Amino acid sequence: MSAHAHPVPMTARRSPPLRGVAEVPGDKSISHRALILGALSIGETHITGLLEGQDVLDTATAMRAFGATVTRHGPGEWSVRGVGVGGFAEPAQVIDCGNSGTGVRLIMGAMATTPITATFTGDASLNKRPMGRVTDPLALFGARAHGRQGGKLPMTLVGAAEAVPVRYRLPMPSAQVKSAVLLAGLNAPGQTVVIEPEATRDHTERMLRGFGAEVTVEDSPEGRIITLTGQPELTGQAVAVPRDPSSAAFPVCAALLVPGSEILVPGVSRNPTRDGLYVTLLEMGADITFENPREEGGEPVADLRVRHSPALKGVETPPERAASMIDEFPILSVVAARAQGATVMRGVKELRVKESDRIDAMARGLEACGVRIEEDTDTLIVHGTGAVPGGATVESRLDHRIAMAFLVLGMVAETPVTVDDASPIDTSFPLFEGLMTGLGASLVRTNR
Ligand code: S3P
Repeated sequence: MSAHAHPVPMTARRSPPLRGVAEVPGDKSISHRALILGALSIGETHITGLLEGQDVLDTATAMRAFGATVTRHGPGEWSVRGVGVGGFAEPAQVIDCGNSGTGVRLIMGAMATTPITATFTGDASLNKRPMGRVTDPLALFGARAHGRQGGKLPMTLVGAAEAVPVRYRLPMPSAQVKSAVLLAGLNAPGQTVVIEPEATRDHTERMLRGFGAEVTVEDSPEGRIITLTGQPELTGQAVAVPRDPSSAAFPVCAALLVPGSEILVPGVSRNPTRDGLYVTLLEMGADITFENPREEGGEPVADLRVRHSPALKGVETPPERAASMIDEFPILSVVAARAQGATVMRGVKELRVKESDRIDAMARGLEACGVRIEEDTDTLIVHGTGAVPGGATVESRLDHRIAMAFLVLGMVAETPVTVDDASPIDTSFPLFEGLMTGLGASLVRTNR
């Protein structure tokens, strides 16, 4: 059964060739950060290409609750008039971050060194996810968290009145935790240092510099050492959000798998900390070319031309690549199911604490579709045979990427695949259905 109030069952069936231009939405990670840094700046931040998915809309609402003026001017075009570092007001209501781990964790960081109190909640998925990974380092700054057992939302965070700077080594590869610590460090005097043994997405560091903070990054035997000088004056900026490589992954993989397809996906971020799926697909034998490489808004971008690739083979993804493709394992599992041979995904235990336990969600759904799987805590193995029977109804578990992955599977399975609830897709890719059917995909809402 779906946990959603109004489930939207959706069925995908064998699709004719996918053709055309796929304009995927703005990057989710960068969109959250643009709103939050805009709110922590003096003056106006003007954002174009903002993702208008529910996760980001919830962050926009939260920034208003902390005192920023956030205005929508047109599709993807927003402005934020900020309150400056340390200027957050105490929200009058509970902050509801919906489905978004990024939203709640980054916002907790951003308020943790201001002497205000805020209470956070989310949906049934978010309220199951671990928050101790952010509240532990935020406690070192002097903030206090009071949540449910096991560090779960709903949770109240009391910001530090006299914050001290922190030196913190990440116990897990998490850009959300890194970003929470850096955002908290903004209103602490002196230098806050984060050490990450494995590189994770670096949008916060890039954007903090763009807004005027002093951030240095040094590679050492311990990993990347990121040093932020506290209490800078951040100034509003123009932010052009590139298109999201994690959203692009769905039409890209669909085009690789559906015979006769050729699509163009323009303006996709090629940030190396987000590129693991594309590296892996090329190793599998995918026909993807990266045209017109350029820099936009401080991020490398390119236009992706993708053609049907009939001879994909299974590969092994090493643990050190996992962080750079952490959101792409569901769709990689689908590609793996249609490839020849085993695809072995190592070092993926962080998938167990995403919007759903993504190892379990993919394993159970793929098995229901006739695919052989092996799994342990930290590994997922998909045995591809080049063909997938399909013919199952799969649970999306309030997880947008599980829903989209199984709909792509249905486009190439022998019999249709139904997802019990496609509504979570709105969190990151609200136009998914129209974009995919516009390319030619056979995707319909189904009544149960
Ligand atoms: C994100 C970081 C990742 C990713 C999430 C977005 C971010 O989470 O899964 O979708 O914007 O920082 P972790 O940092 O917890 O791995």
